[in-house]
Amino acid sequence: MTTSITPLIAGNWKMNGLMASLSEVQKLAEMLTRGTAPRCTVAICPPATLLARISEMAASSGIVTGGQDCHPAQSGAHTGDISATMLADAGAQFVIVGHSERRAGHGESDDLVRTKAQAAFAAGLTPIICVGETEAERRDGQAEAVVGRQVATSVPEEAQAIDVVIAYEPVWAIGTGLTPTTDDIRQVHDMIRAQLIERFGDSGQTIRLLYGGSMKPANARDILMVENVNGGLVGGASLLANDFYAIISAV
Ligand code: PGA
Repeated sequence: MTTSITPLIAGNWKMNGLMASLSEVQKLAEMLTRGTAPRCTVAICPPATLLARISEMAASSGIVTGGQDCHPAQSGAHTGDISATMLADAGAQFVIVGHSERRAGHGESDDLVRTKAQAAFAAGLTPIICVGETEAERRDGQAEAVVGRQVATSVPEEAQAIDVVIAYEPVWAIGTGLTPTTDDIRQVHDMIRAQLIERFGDSGQTIRLLYGGSMKPANARDILMVENVNGGLVGGASLLANDFYAIISAV
């Protein structure tokens, strides 16, 4: 972990969560207010249907919220889409863009992801820009080349002046229970850091780099100890307050 950066632990609920799930947020909020103050920013990215509710109920415990995707435009004729302005209006501070499930399931390109990150900036949100190689790309020794290319194109130029978060999520580790070794994580995170410094100078030092992909209470501590890992993007293990709290406590 890089000590000068406040880490971020962000929960990505994906397409999970009904009104009944609000009780997990309540439980987490109670755990966070009862225990010692977390040494990180804690964010929940619920489905859009729960965003305003969770933003309201979690505020007093210091939990912040984020959306899971946004459209590049702030409003208009885009049936079914949601804009960064709408997410901000519902209380969000973050928005995930370029998650591999959107890249794969909705054909999102690096160029599109970059315009979504720019829409986030325009709405005053911090984008969490996701990158990561597939299993085949790692097998072919292409992991760093792929991630380097994604970072180069998905991260907008404005990132040098505005808060931005990058999440390294190997596609093969998402939801599978598989994780890279800490050495593999270190290698990719160091590569991203070097690339950001080369491109943005000093501000490249302070961009938060999250790891994501089967992060859970049992492995969070080891992963968070890695230099240049400044937090985690947590899917499955963020749905239950106990598990998510255990990861937050590992910081
Ligand atoms: P996972 O998902 O923790 O369930 O592997 C992480 C993510 O997709 O952000």
